[in-house]
Amino acid sequence: MPIPTQETALADFLRTYPTFDHTALHALRSRDYSRLDKLGHVYLDYTGGGLYADSQLDTHQQLLREGVFGNPHSSNPSSQAMTQLDEQSRHYVLEYFNASPNDYVCIFTQNASGALKLVGESYPFGPHSHYLLTFDNHNSVNGIREFARAKGATVTYTPVVPPELRLDEQKLAQFLDLADPTYPNLFAYPAQSNFSGVQHPLEWIERAHAKGWDVLVDAAAFAPTNRLDLSRYQPDFVCLSFYKIFGYPTGIGCLIARKSALTKLQRPWFAGGTITIASVQGDGYYLADGEAAFEDGTIDYLNLPAVEIGLKHITDVSIDAIHERVICLTDWLIKNLVNLRHSNGNPLIYLYGPANTTMRGGTVTINFYDADNNWIDFRSVEAQANERNISLRTGCFCNPGAGENALGLTKEELADCFGNEESMTFEEFIRAMHGKGEDAVGAVRVSVGLATNFSDVYQFIEFAKTFLC
Ligand SMILES: Cc1ncc(COP(=O)(O)O)c(C=O)c1O
Repeated sequence: MPIPTQETALADFLRTYPTFDHTALHALRSRDYSRLDKLGHVYLDYTGGGLYADSQLDTHQQLLREGVFGNPHSSNPSSQAMTQLDEQSRHYVLEYFNASPNDYVCIFTQNASGALKLVGESYPFGPHSHYLLTFDNHNSVNGIREFARAKGATVTYTPVVPPELRLDEQKLAQFLDLADPTYPNLFAYPAQSNFSGVQHPLEWIERAHAKGWDVLVDAAAFAPTNRLDLSRYQPDFVCLSFYKIFGYPTGIGCLIARKSALTKLQRPWFAGGTITIASVQGDGYYLADGEAAFEDGTIDYLNLPAVEIGLKHITDVSIDAIHERVICLTDWLIKNLVNLRHSNGNPLIYLYGPANTTMRGGTVTINFYDADNNWIDFRSVEAQANERNISLRTGCFCNPGAGENALGLTKEELADCFGNEESMTFEEFIRAMHGKGEDAVGAVRVSVGLATNFSDVYQFIEFAKTFLC
C-alpha cells in the first residue's frame, strides 16, 4: 500500500472532519501566527502556554505609544486614564465569561496559582471544616491543603479511575455527604485536567452546593478552548491564567469570585491598595470593598488592557470555532497514535485518559514502548522531539495525583519518598520510583490549541513513527 503523503492525509482528514474550518484557520495562521511556519516550529504545548497573535502585540503597543499612563493608585489625569482602561478590562473579563457583575467580581492576580493562593490563605477553614479535592489537580490546588490542615480542617482526596481517569462518581457523592453545612467546606476540582485532558462535569458544582460546599473550579486548562458560561454554571471561585488563553501578556491571571463567597474570605494581612485606611499609632486598618481588598500593591497596570485585547481576539476568532477545531485535531491525533503498532503487533504508545473526544479537551498524554513492551524514557522522547523543533511537554505536569492514579503508584510506595529530612529533585524521585508501579514515572504531553493546524499533528505522528521497530 502506498504511504499517504501529508497532502493526501489532509484531504482524508478534511473529508472525515467536515466541521474543521481549514480555510479560516489558514487565514488566521498566515495573518497572526506566521512565525510558526517561518521558523519551522511545531508547537504542541498549548496546555503549557497559549500563543499570542501578532495583532495583539500591535494593538497593545499602539495603545501604550499613544497614551500617557500612570499608577492607578493616584488620581491625576495619567492615573485616571489608566484606571479607566484597567477597569474596562476587568469588566470585559466578566462579560467574556458571561458573569453578571451583580453576582461576580474579577480580581486580577499574577496567575492561576496566585488566585488559588488568595482563596487558600483566606478561606475560613477550621477544625470542623473539610477541604475536598480530586486526585486530578494541579499542584497549586493541592497546595491549598497546607492552609486547610494548618487550621485543623480535614483534607480528603477523591480518586479518578484509569484508564479514562474520570472521577469515581460514587465515591465523590459519598465524600460530598461528609460536609457539616454549618461550617465552611471547600470542594476544588479542575474543569479540565492538565494531565489527561478529561473534562470533569460542571454539574458537580450545584450538587456540591446542595450539600453545603463552596466550590472552587480551576479553569486554567479548560478556558483556552472551551466556552465557560458563568450564567449557567455558578461556582464560588474560578481561577485562570490569561497567557494560557491567548499567550500575551504573561504574569496576569484572575480569580472570578461570587460576591457572596468573597465576603467569607478572611485576608491574613493588608497591603498597599487593599485598605481604605491604616494607621501605625492607631494600630488598625479597614479593608477596601470587593476586588480591591484582594489586589496587593500596584497591579500590572500597563498590561491589564492587553487582557481585554486578548479576549477580544479570541472572541473574533470564536471560542466555539477553536473548540471544534481542537476536537477534530485531537480525535485524529488519538486515533492515529493508538493505531501505531510495531512489526510484531505490539502497540507503540499507551494513552492516559479517554481514547475518544467525549468530555475531553486537546491534551493528549502518552508513553512510548518498544516492540518488547519496554518503556522508552520520556526524556529521550523529548530530546528527539527537540531536534525536530517540536515543542511538547514531559514529566508529571505539576499534576502528581492524576499521574499516580494513571501510573499505578501506591500510597505506600510514595510514602517512602516523603519521609526524608532532605528534599529530593525530580531526577532523584524518578530513580527512587524505578521498579514501582508501571515502569514509567512521567509521560509525554502533546496539546493542541487555537493556532494548531493539520500539519502540526501530522508531523507529530511522523515523529512518533520513528520509534517503531
Ligand atoms: C489546570 C491548571 N491549573 C493551574 C495551573 C497553574 O497555572 P499558573 O502556573 O499560570 O499559575 C495550571 C498550569 O499549568 C494548570 O494547567
